[in-house]
Amino acid sequence: MASAFGILRIRRVQSLPEQAEELFVLCEPFVFNTHLFPISPQPYWSMLAMNFRGPFRIRADRNRPDPEIKHPYDAIVRVTRSLICGSDLHLYHGLVPDTRVGMTFGHEFTGVVEAVGSGVQKLKVGDHVLVPFNIACGTCPFCKQELYGNCHESNPEATAVGGFFGYAHIAGGYDGGQAEYVRVPYADVSPTVIPKGMDIEDAVMLTDVTPTGYQAAEQGGIQKGDTVVVFGAGPVGIMSARCAWLFGAGRVIIIDRLEYRLEFAKKYAYCEAYNFKEMDDPVLFLKKATDWYGADVCIDAVGCDATGSTLQNILGKKLLLEAGNATALHWAINSVKKGGIVSVIGVYGPPWNLVPMGSLMNKGITLRGNQASVKRLLPKLIDHVMSGRLNPKGLISHRIPLEEVPDAYHMFSAKRDNIIKPLLIPPRAYAA
Ligand SMILES: NC(=O)c1ccc[n+]([C@@H]2O[C@H](COP(=O)([O-])OP(=O)(O)OC[C@H]3O[C@@H](n4cnc5c(N)ncnc54)[C@H](O)[C@@H]3O)[C@@H](O)[C@H]2O)c1
Ligand SMILES: [Zn+2]
Ligand SMILES: [Zn+2]
Repeated sequence: MASAFGILRIRRVQSLPEQAEELFVLCEPFVFNTHLFPISPQPYWSMLAMNFRGPFRIRADRNRPDPEIKHPYDAIVRVTRSLICGSDLHLYHGLVPDTRVGMTFGHEFTGVVEAVGSGVQKLKVGDHVLVPFNIACGTCPFCKQELYGNCHESNPEATAVGGFFGYAHIAGGYDGGQAEYVRVPYADVSPTVIPKGMDIEDAVMLTDVTPTGYQAAEQGGIQKGDTVVVFGAGPVGIMSARCAWLFGAGRVIIIDRLEYRLEFAKKYAYCEAYNFKEMDDPVLFLKKATDWYGADVCIDAVGCDATGSTLQNILGKKLLLEAGNATALHWAINSVKKGGIVSVIGVYGPPWNLVPMGSLMNKGITLRGNQASVKRLLPKLIDHVMSGRLNPKGLISHRIPLEEVPDAYHMFSAKRDNIIKPLLIPPRAYAA
């Protein structure tokens, strides 16, 4: 992948004006690709990849640097499928601190191993793998507890989350899979060879959204016959509702404002579905629907991009005085019963949020949340998929060439064209 002569790598400087950066890239082959410059091999800038240019600005660039092995435990993977997640929308909307210009997003992908570092023992060139979104070392105290989303080694920037592919620098700053190639650190730990007979679309859905929905239900501690309310009928919320039945729920209710998603959720997750735009007060509505006790378990599958409160929109999304809009979490805390459990799977970034602490304390609520621990859940979920109990690919609504990634983001963000989950297909996905 590196050029025969070596090409001087032009470091992307964040303050470099966009036009100047483009000019450099244009001139690069003429100026530097010559014997007069004896330069050690550097990545060749040839890859098609998504390129973040700032909030609401995404490009598909053909001149991104090909990744290279930087550590003996690395692998290079040629991406075969990737997805856009609701978590990517938080980055796209500018809600996550330290999201840097020039970053390639994408934390849900499958790919073929093209190269491995000298320390990689399990993965082989040619393996077709699904790559969990958490980057985990496998040996730190948190990985040992199977908290793979909280690895202590893979993210030098934070004490909360571990490293993730294609997220902000608060998650380690690794480039992600909305690209033709990705560098995969700790390649022997989480990447998993796609089981024989598994559809590639099911496989890519196992890298995040399926384990995430499952963990949302698991964190809820659902008991047989429980009433579970899920806020958010995006792919994560719909999968949470579907998985709530696996834990023995007796009744599952989903809440959103988008009619097409509620209709979809009813069929996919066999649940009741209600539109909060048609309610004066969603908390009152849910109390009434649960004999005035409240739900046993509430799941927040919305996170910091919620709507439904003008005050929180202004404070969190316009003025950035809190970490986005915490309205769904607010509703979840207020509509769960006394002694109930609130499971937070929707993402909130630093620094803080306005949540009703008094209700939480005085109602004796248990609040549980985390990033999904994908590797921990994979064996169970592979079994559910292979036996037909779960059908993750049924959530994929759009299949879009990687070249059209800006349109895909726009459509997903604006919830156009009845979009549920968009899949990206890179041009080299089918290469031999
Ligand atoms: N914890 C994890 O490991 C993990 C992994 C993946 C995604 N996530 C998070 O899960 C959340 C959902 O992801 P997604 O891909 O389904 O996103 P999405 O944007 O497709 O769906 C979010 C849905 O929430 C709805 N919504 C907005 N405000 C609401 C409110 N007040 N009440 C109820 N519904 C409301 C929206 O209309 C939308 O349908 C995001 O915050 C994402 O970052 C977490
Ligand atoms: Zn995700
Ligand atoms: Zn670790």
